[in-house]
Amino acid sequence: MGDPKYILALDLGTTGNRAFLFDRNGQVVGKAYKELRQYYPQPGWLEHDPLEIWQATCWVAKTAIEKANINSSEIAALGLTVQRETCLLWNQNTGEPLHRAIVWQDRRTASECEDLRTQGYGPEIYHRSGLVIDAYFSASKLAWLLKNIPDIDYKSTLAGTIDSWILWKLTNGKVHGTDHSNASRTMLMNLENCQWDETLLDLFQIPTDILPTIKPSFGEFGVTDPKILGTAIPITAILGDQQAALFGHCCCRPGLMKCTYGTGSFLVAYTGKDIVRSQNQLLSTVAWSQINQNSNLDVSYALEGSMFTSGACIQWLRDGIKLIENAVETESMATRVKNNGGLYFVPALSGLGAPHWDMSARGSFFGITAGITSEHMVRAVLEAIAYQVKEVVQIIDTASINPIKVLTVDGGACQNNFLMQFQADLLQIPVERPMMCDITVQGIAFAAGIVVGFWEKIETLREGRVIERVFKPSKDCNHAQANFKTWLRAVERSKHWLI
Ligand code: G3P
Repeated sequence: MGDPKYILALDLGTTGNRAFLFDRNGQVVGKAYKELRQYYPQPGWLEHDPLEIWQATCWVAKTAIEKANINSSEIAALGLTVQRETCLLWNQNTGEPLHRAIVWQDRRTASECEDLRTQGYGPEIYHRSGLVIDAYFSASKLAWLLKNIPDIDYKSTLAGTIDSWILWKLTNGKVHGTDHSNASRTMLMNLENCQWDETLLDLFQIPTDILPTIKPSFGEFGVTDPKILGTAIPITAILGDQQAALFGHCCCRPGLMKCTYGTGSFLVAYTGKDIVRSQNQLLSTVAWSQINQNSNLDVSYALEGSMFTSGACIQWLRDGIKLIENAVETESMATRVKNNGGLYFVPALSGLGAPHWDMSARGSFFGITAGITSEHMVRAVLEAIAYQVKEVVQIIDTASINPIKVLTVDGGACQNNFLMQFQADLLQIPVERPMMCDITVQGIAFAAGIVVGFWEKIETLREGRVIERVFKPSKDCNHAQANFKTWLRAVERSKHWLI
């Protein structure tokens, strides 16, 4: 068969699962996508069916291979990137999940987290994990599963985030592992020594034995069972999806950052070998890890502003209140009105993340008058996505000597020209949109390919990046600044709604 010619990248996200095949020139030769069903058993709860994720993974991988018309033996390596924090328990004998996976946006453990805050655990948890106490992270979700599933047999139970589950399935139960970037989102890993933290495990009452082994993000995770894709393919990189996007943007020098407009918006800045601690509720987290030439673990860190609802608001406009038929039309609707008509939206559909971390905030419109139309509502939602990002950029700017000079973006909503122009006006810096918007999947492909020497170094890939469009701040963008101040007032009013 000769030299393997392709890299298979799997991106298992919140709204859907995708597989891409890349050739040596970094070109996509085959791809497939399958939307994922969302289960809302109660207000504020969100679950995924782990078996559906597994079946979709197999389907997208096989379909991408078929579309590329290649043989799976021509694949040099597989990279896996996933929605983070979402977690589950499963039986290692039967391979059956014990419950649906609890998704990162799920708020069912808000009161337990609030109790921990009230009891003063915030600083210690932050110090150990780099994270702010919130229902967002896996720890309280795993604790909920362990408490609420009846008659758990601990000897046969395994726990993990989506990467662990899929890795276990891909290797036919041979490997129960995760990587440092995903483990750093559980609230159970110590950010300094990069191991499961006994104090945090005790606090959340999670037995160590059910947890996966934490491995370097770039390295050996085993091989796929030949029965699945026809060949044993080495799995050589695993990353959380935001970290994969950071890698895909080649943000590998301190000061470089990206913003992904996906289900939520995630602004992530690479900070290098140092754990940078924020004074303003940003998260310190692992970017990626690898074993260096001296056989030591080399960990790179990042600072992150996680905003829970962006694309999810547009999905809500479409599927929830049926104000639009598809995401694309939001752009023309927003420009059909000359301004927001005094309407402001707070996108707290799953509470508020950075920098507020208010689990009891809820989505709200402020300023409704009889003159408000559906166009104003759509515009207010798009503007809110940009205001959230502005808040986090402002915090990073205040904390750093070098203010952000350009914002590099990706994710579905970055295709919206109105949103990107409004973002540039609001930030008063250029917003740079690359040609390839599926940066997450590209990032994990780069990572898996570099490990097996398919590509030599990240620099080669950086040179290949093409910027499709730069949105420059308009001359007259004062209105955007003024509106931002009003929006901040709306945010304050939407807080503490449930208490
Ligand atoms: O932390 C949650 C994040 O990883 C979800 O990403 O792309 O599925 O919205 P996405």
